[in-house]
Amino acid sequence: MLIEKIKIIRRKALRLLELRPIHRVIRQLKQNDYLIMDHVLEVYGYTGEFHTLDYVKYVNQLDIWEIDPTCEIHLKNNLPRANVKITDSYAELRKTDERFDTVVLDNPRGIFGDEKCEHFEIIEDCFRVLTDRSVLIANIIPDILVSKYVTPKETVFMHILKRKSFYRHEDGISISEQHFSTFYTDMACKNGFIVRNIFFVKRNYLFTYIILCLEKN
Ligand SMILES: C[S@@+](CC[C@H](N)C(=O)[O-])C[C@H]1O[C@@H](n2cnc3c(N)ncnc32)[C@H](O)[C@@H]1O
Repeated sequence: MLIEKIKIIRRKALRLLELRPIHRVIRQLKQNDYLIMDHVLEVYGYTGEFHTLDYVKYVNQLDIWEIDPTCEIHLKNNLPRANVKITDSYAELRKTDERFDTVVLDNPRGIFGDEKCEHFEIIEDCFRVLTDRSVLIANIIPDILVSKYVTPKETVFMHILKRKSFYRHEDGISISEQHFSTFYTDMACKNGFIVRNIFFVKRNYLFTYIILCLEKN
């Protein structure tokens, strides 16, 4: 309980000082002349406290989707100007007519829901809703064996298999930035976009942000 409180205070202080990992993403996007946040979609909302609150001041219009109805009140309190929707983002993304210049996939780690894995079943659908010049940000896991979470063996095994198949990687465990770069650049290309710039920002011991600066082909 005390540790949790300390973590929250630390997060708030770093937010004020703009020293959280997402602030490094923002700074690098600015440098690349790619900070385009007129209409942003956060696909996995939770309460907004993990990182949305850190970058919301740069956003004109924020749409935030979350499947868990207990998060709604927190999202509305934390992000009063955002359009909050309690929905299954996977289905919502396929039917929305909205277009976004930045889409953020702060996906859960590992396997969740009905055996979904990281952002594997949703990322390709994001390209349909992106504007001609746009940014796609996602959580990636360079090495799943460093995880400190207690996870059943069978789940870890399934996670590895899904990573092997999705990333077309020989072991699915430890994946290099070079492999991620080639993989997501090919994916963008197949979905009608050129990758103008791609970069990585380490978020914590497990997660890294991958950032794709895109232009419609
Ligand atoms: C890592 S948290 C997101 C943190 C959030 N971006 C923030 O800044 O606080 C992942 C969230 O994804 C949600 N989620 C999982 N499956 C989903 C789905 N199918 N549709 C929408 N949200 C989903 C979970 O309920 C969880 O709250």
